[in-house]
Amino acid sequence: MQDTKSSGVYGTPPAELAEIPIGAIQFSPLIPGSGPLEQQEEGSLGEMVVLAPPGTVERRYTIALALRALKPGGSLTVLAPKDKGGSRIAKELKGFGCDVAETSRRHHRICSAERPVLPVGLDEALTEGSPRLDEALGLWTWPGVFSWNRLDPGSALLEQNLPPLSGRGADFGCGIGILARAILASSKVEHLALIDIDRRAIEMAARNIDDARTEVHWADIRSGTGLKGLDFVVMNPPFHDGGAEDQSLGQAFIRRAAEALRPGGVLWLVANRHLPYEAVLKTLFKRVTPKIEANGYKIYEAVK
Ligand SMILES: C[S@@+](CC[C@H](N)C(=O)[O-])C[C@H]1O[C@@H](n2cnc3c(N)ncnc32)[C@H](O)[C@@H]1O
Repeated sequence: MQDTKSSGVYGTPPAELAEIPIGAIQFSPLIPGSGPLEQQEEGSLGEMVVLAPPGTVERRYTIALALRALKPGGSLTVLAPKDKGGSRIAKELKGFGCDVAETSRRHHRICSAERPVLPVGLDEALTEGSPRLDEALGLWTWPGVFSWNRLDPGSALLEQNLPPLSGRGADFGCGIGILARAILASSKVEHLALIDIDRRAIEMAARNIDDARTEVHWADIRSGTGLKGLDFVVMNPPFHDGGAEDQSLGQAFIRRAAEALRPGGVLWLVANRHLPYEAVLKTLFKRVTPKIEANGYKIYEAVK
């Protein structure tokens, strides 16, 4: 029987590929309510299972955090789809001084190791993957967060074309706060709720937007926002869930925006031109106007 208090899991590994210890603490920043792995006491866990993220810097950081949180001799399983970083895990673990056993199943690489007494190179991976100030953006960012090291072209287009808004509103899927910064440039904005499913984004947005008119929420917009009677909602909705294109995600964002707006309230949305949002917009809003199309993106204004 495991010591149920001392194990952790990062993400939701497929049950047939890795056994999750009963009572494991969830540490994924993409699951609202989970614990912050970067604050987990060093050497406090006996076992950890990590569904590794695809980005190299983020993955090495997460593995380094997991090794730091484990007791020497503690058991670590790290897995990922082969084409999403899985084929690099064994080398990365060896680089941290681990002896690695590797298997392959259902397009995943699954690596097991024990935490060495003295892992190698953790500090470097931790520094590389930690929050940093992006001088070009003038914003704090964190590797792994959406578009963490470049300005997304869709967001840039909306940022440049957003009219001054007023009243109470929300930024759905706020990321590190690029659109929020543009929204709050209008002194007529009275209140802005920033919502994102990624805790790291929420932490960066809170650090970036030092404005008494805002509040941040770490939440899954699909589950409902509880917001009502808003004057405006702004969004660059996600269209990937767990790495696969998922158009229903953006459509769910649009439905939640329609619920949150008052009659006459306005939604500003930017999306890749190929995404099928117009039909759902037209069923939920009184007037839908494509405003600008450029660089493969489209901006809509939709009035409820
Ligand atoms: C396309 S990005 C836009 C980020 C930011 N607004 C910008 O313009 O840079 C979409 C954002 O939605 C967040 N997101 C994805 N799924 C979500 C969900 N179910 N609930 C809340 N936020 C979500 C992502 O973490 C990401 O930050």
